[in-house]
Amino acid sequence: SITDMAVRYVCYKGINFPPGYNSEQSLRFAETQFRVRDDDVFNVTYPKSGTVWMTEILSLIRSRGDPAWNRAVLNSERSPWFSTQLGLDAAQTCPSPRLLTCHLPLQLFPKAFFSSRAKVVYTVRDPRDVVVSYYHFSKMCSSYQDPESFAQFLEDFLRGDVPHGSWFEHVRAWRQLKGKDNVFFISYEELQQDLQGSVRRLCQFLGQELEDADISSVVENTSFQAMRENDKCNSTLLPRNIMDQERGTFLRKGVCGDWKNHFTVAQSEHFAMIYRERMRGLNGAFPWEW
Ligand code: A3P
Repeated sequence: SITDMAVRYVCYKGINFPPGYNSEQSLRFAETQFRVRDDDVFNVTYPKSGTVWMTEILSLIRSRGDPAWNRAVLNSERSPWFSTQLGLDAAQTCPSPRLLTCHLPLQLFPKAFFSSRAKVVYTVRDPRDVVVSYYHFSKMCSSYQDPESFAQFLEDFLRGDVPHGSWFEHVRAWRQLKGKDNVFFISYEELQQDLQGSVRRLCQFLGQELEDADISSVVENTSFQAMRENDKCNSTLLPRNIMDQERGTFLRKGVCGDWKNHFTVAQSEHFAMIYRERMRGLNGAFPWEW
């Protein structure tokens, strides 16, 4: 954020990560030595695609709609960020079955996953909304460089010169796993449009049978409003030197299409051109239109 102009990212295998919790060692450990358990469920996203939302949904499915766990325990403890040192420690002592969260690109994901029966839920979001959300987030989070302007941040994003690397490469690589029975793809837009149906499909993928009333409770407790009121997921408990609540709100708007309020016509055309080029062959694969 603006309070720290000198943020230096951690670079691991060509991808930048925010400093502080991530380190080259923790990223290397996550990739090469992390012990994956067959009953692990990974919540994987590119940043700002609905990560924290999915953590709430997966936690509530696990507790069969009972909100007690979500209200009592911080999201980062319910679903540790195992690519950071802090999260690794939490993940390794976490009883099974675990929920785990990360933004890792496919090539840096734990190698052990690929010979396991663990499951991945990958959530994707319209990259135009991602870049807007990422821009606002970068301003309030101390481990991110302060964006010079939206226009500059947009250029960096399109070049893949932002933490966690290129959105295009992240999504394209993960998308190659579509069709595997232990990988589930969903979009932020589907969650918005039909949360109940999305929760049902997630339950099916996870092999968890929930009663209708439990499903309704998952839906109610993962609404934008309910999450805003829960300090175990709304980020307000994070200290000011990590997340500056005066510079923004983590659960900011929670809508589809906010990019229309940020992009100029020229930016939108430029984005569309690059999108079509970089996502060639994936026409119609996602809910948004170009
Ligand atoms: P906006 O900045 O567009 O509001 P992540 O968790 O990956 O960092 O993503 C954060 C984005 O998801 C933010 O987007 C946030 O508001 C949105 N979000 C989180 N929970 C949500 C919910 N229950 N409903 C809608 N959007 C939600």
